[in-house]
Amino acid sequence: MIDIRVGIIGLGSVGQGVVQIINDNISLIEKKTNTKISIIGVSGKNKNKHRDVQIDRYQWYDDPISLAGNENADIIIELIGGEDGVAFEVVESAIKAGKHVITANKALLAKNGNYLFELAEKIGVKLLFEAAIAGTIPIIKTLKESVASNTISAIYGILNGTCNYILTSMEKGGISFESALKRAQELGFAESDPTFDIEGYDAAHKLSILSSICFGQKINFDQVKIEGIKSIELDDIRAASDYGYVIRLLGIAKRNEDDHISQVVRPSLLSKESDLSGVEWEKNAISIRGNYFNELLLSGPGAGRLPTASAVMGDLFDIINNTKYPSLGMPLKALSNSSKDGNIEENRFYLRLLLPDVSGTMASITNTMAKNGISIDDITQRISKKMKDKNLVPITIITSMTNYESINKAVEDINKNNYSSASPNIITIEN
Ligand SMILES: NC(=O)c1ccc[n+]([C@@H]2O[C@H](COP(=O)([O-])OP(=O)(O)OC[C@H]3O[C@@H](n4cnc5c(N)ncnc54)[C@H](OP(=O)(O)O)[C@@H]3O)[C@@H](O)[C@H]2O)c1
Repeated sequence: MIDIRVGIIGLGSVGQGVVQIINDNISLIEKKTNTKISIIGVSGKNKNKHRDVQIDRYQWYDDPISLAGNENADIIIELIGGEDGVAFEVVESAIKAGKHVITANKALLAKNGNYLFELAEKIGVKLLFEAAIAGTIPIIKTLKESVASNTISAIYGILNGTCNYILTSMEKGGISFESALKRAQELGFAESDPTFDIEGYDAAHKLSILSSICFGQKINFDQVKIEGIKSIELDDIRAASDYGYVIRLLGIAKRNEDDHISQVVRPSLLSKESDLSGVEWEKNAISIRGNYFNELLLSGPGAGRLPTASAVMGDLFDIINNTKYPSLGMPLKALSNSSKDGNIEENRFYLRLLLPDVSGTMASITNTMAKNGISIDDITQRISKKMKDKNLVPITIITSMTNYESINKAVEDINKNNYSSASPNIITIEN
């Protein structure tokens, strides 16, 4: 049996999960790896904080950087979080000290991944991150190993459990966005400050890393177009359902016909018949399109203490087994600089408008759409007592295939002429 000595930095939800799994399942893990695993040190911000797992038997480090560089450690597991600051220092100093590193920190990798992966490759250590994207779902392994011979044309992901929980609560419970968010917070599916999740940044961090592996390009978070779910109202969920759709926050990365890669995070209408539409509550799912298998859908728990820690442990097995796959699926020098942004192809769109209850406004809307070259597949007047009292009529429109530019131009005209009492809510319908 060989010995592997591990330092765990960050003892919050995921860090404690890792300690728990190592303790609970140590004999099975050691049997499978033929390795004796010891935790040689742990570090957090506050030594005296209550933990759900026993940590007294491990050496405590007030200074995480000294544990990261400790000569007795073979592997450092970074579970602090944050795109810069201590997490960055921990990972950088561990790599520089010749340690393999495992992290669950997508924000760190989206911002500093290109530098850190290059550093790790130069020094000859591994920097693994399966837990950073969609928790237990083995998407990184799948892309780097199982489907590596394919050319990937697109990836569609439900990458944020908080948003999916909120949208599913609205859909199933007929409750408002605010109530759904509150419920998610009470049940621990949303942070007390949910900004990062509901504004789409968390999904965008994950998408930028996935795009790099799928399309062989460097990570470029700045190229992700990001739209969150804050503007989704119960009226949208209900109207979508009438049309045969559900609303999900999707991260989409695609290679377009002009060879440009598009990366976008946005709420999308998905047919109730589609596989992704059945992904509910806090679950995550990722659909990959490859040239030799058409479509592969992976789904499962995308976050949580033990599901995420289980993915961290998968990376630990990889390091122990000395697997040789490069962190981003190919040697860094083979990665291209990310290509200029491209437009995602044409789509149908859903629009919700509030029109004054006077004759002729509906005609103004249809004329504006026609002037911008947009055909309408459906226009429906919705009933709302609240709006009727204000002399307003909610209208929903489904367009035929068009592009974002035409839609934006039409909405600009609608706003300029004050046809709608609020700027129309626009949601893309996935093909
Ligand atoms: N939670 C999930 O379900 C999940 C899923 C996927 C990925 N992740 C990622 O996993 C990472 C950890 O997430 P988490 O939910 O476990 O976070 P968390 O519960 O907030 O825990 C963070 C830990 O970092 C420690 N810490 C903070 N500042 C520190 C400092 N200056 N020095 C040393 N330790 C410090 C904290 O110490 P104290 O405990 O002493 O305050 C705490 O133990 C993040 O990158 C997150 O994005 C989490």
